[in-house]
Amino acid sequence: MKKTIEDFNLKSKRVMIRVDFNVPIIDGVIKDDNRIRESLKTIKYAIENQARVILLSHLGRVKEEKDLEKNDLAPIAVRLEELLNHKVTFVGETRGPIVESAISNMQDGDVILLQNTRYEDLYGKLESSNDLELGKYWASLGDIFINDAFGTSHRAHASNVGIASNLPSGLGFLVEKEVKSLSIALSPVHPYTVILGGAKVSDKIGIIENLVTKADYLLIGGAMAYTFLKAKGYPVGKSLVDEENIPFAKKMLDLYSDKLILPIDSVNAKEMIEDAKYNITLVEDIKEDDIGLDIGPKTIELFKDYLNKSKLIVWNGTLGYSEWDNFSKGTKGILEILKNLDAIKLIGGGDTAASVIQFGYKEFMTHISTGGGASLELLEGKELPGISIIEDKDE
Ligand code: 3PG
Repeated sequence: MKKTIEDFNLKSKRVMIRVDFNVPIIDGVIKDDNRIRESLKTIKYAIENQARVILLSHLGRVKEEKDLEKNDLAPIAVRLEELLNHKVTFVGETRGPIVESAISNMQDGDVILLQNTRYEDLYGKLESSNDLELGKYWASLGDIFINDAFGTSHRAHASNVGIASNLPSGLGFLVEKEVKSLSIALSPVHPYTVILGGAKVSDKIGIIENLVTKADYLLIGGAMAYTFLKAKGYPVGKSLVDEENIPFAKKMLDLYSDKLILPIDSVNAKEMIEDAKYNITLVEDIKEDDIGLDIGPKTIELFKDYLNKSKLIVWNGTLGYSEWDNFSKGTKGILEILKNLDAIKLIGGGDTAASVIQFGYKEFMTHISTGGGASLELLEGKELPGISIIEDKDE
């Protein structure tokens, strides 16, 4: 068992909490603040226990100078302050005298958010390569390290593994909840059905190979389905196809034809625009100039038969282009089925989680993970380095 924040006396301690505030921001506006909301419990607990709270997070990927501005954490500090209803001081740097003096001037209960940890990636990828000196330096600014960034726990970076290697450490409430909820799928009840969507087969190879042996059915939707349909010999028109992975899709279909369930109809448009006209066809009738953008109503009914008999359902990846109303009906249709099912329902992946919340189905799910890659790796049974590095409880 790993130590948690509750195993420490936090009073007057500099408590560094790694959170995952990697949220979608467009033109400075936060599009989905679920990850910020999910971190509040741990931050509030630290404030109530009179810690001096130093928050660290990454945002996006920083490869060149022009990535700095769009990945500035300043707007997140503003939203966090509103949600916490408690002052949050944003320090726009990741190291140096300004950071050090802000920390040394903290009082009990104060909260500081440092600048995006991936600003340290600009020259030499120090954060993402878990540079030892950087991890040691950040650790020197704190007394206790808490990992509450579930979404980042599959990464071994300086701001999680690096700091944890140099300080007493524990898990936050969010990571504890995520691990407990998702681990249900590691010793699954049956029938166990996985719904997989999203764009690329390449992102899901590990999970497909792994879950196809554990689950009873894999229902495939999203753009990914067109790669499988092409592998099976269906016409897919101009739909997005991951050509490189057609051989993989063929192999899976040969080995597990009874478990891999593909769409039987498709919602198609002639162009990729939000209010494009659309037609619905059986998959064998997709035209040369069609772009498949969602599963059709017959597929929703087909998937329903499998979902109705399932005791455990894991869903990762939206089933159509769910940001656009005309192509969100597949995702909404499946949500409506899940709503009334008395099964364990675990949701993972940023877009899927956002759709469930935005379409109003949050309360009907057993657990909605804040992790994308992290939730997939946990479901695959892999160890997450950001969690393994945390100290074990004393016997
Ligand atoms: C995520 O959004 O999955 C996490 O925040 C990790 O982000 P990354 O894929 O850029 O490491």
